[in-house]
Amino acid sequence: MTQTYDAREVAPEQRAASLVDRLKQLRPGTELDVIMPEDRADLLQAVLEAAPRRFWFSPVDAAAGQGLVRFIARLEASAPRVSEYLAWDHDRLDSILVECMRAAGAGDWQGAERCATRFRDGLFRHIAIENDILFPEFEERTGMRDVGPTAVMRHEHVEIKHAVDEIVQSAASKDSEALQRWHANLLGVLVEHNMKEEQILYPGTDRMLDDATREQLVHRLLLG
Ligand SMILES: [Fe+2]
Ligand SMILES: [Fe+2]
Repeated sequence: MTQTYDAREVAPEQRAASLVDRLKQLRPGTELDVIMPEDRADLLQAVLEAAPRRFWFSPVDAAAGQGLVRFIARLEASAPRVSEYLAWDHDRLDSILVECMRAAGAGDWQGAERCATRFRDGLFRHIAIENDILFPEFEERTGMRDVGPTAVMRHEHVEIKHAVDEIVQSAASKDSEALQRWHANLLGVLVEHNMKEEQILYPGTDRMLDDATREQLVHRLLLG
């Protein structure tokens, strides 16, 4: 089970240093959920500056200010790649969806709705950083905008978001049959979508960039 750390309990001027100290205690591959204070963006920026290659993080909910952010200690402090960060985020989101379906299957509709909302918030943020940060970079470098892989991915994002909204709705109305159907619809698009990104788009972007530009891009994705 992932441990939780409450950054709000630390005085503002010590928050960044304390959080970095706590994160440095994580064994590689392990995760920590951090309850963020109001200065969330500044704190994330400070962690990135203090230890630019040691941790990945993604918000667990949509709260712009406070809220939960999940951190993971990377296995090695090598130069970060887009493929590594966004594939981790796919896996992180997949497991929230599994948890959601398990809760619904056990009749825990409150839990299912909470997970479904969390899944939607996380996946919509993932899609937003792809649409707004990653794809423009790919399109600019390849000159492929209206045709090519990003056009297909953008189109699939619309379908994915629709299915996810229906999943949240089905969980809220405790409609097991609709939930199963929209879950199957979602997986019908999402599994292959993620595979194409992980096998083609992400490594393709990684290959097109030099080390410094790639690292800057990953930092923009992390903070996006
Ligand atoms: Fe995507
Ligand atoms: Fe993705």
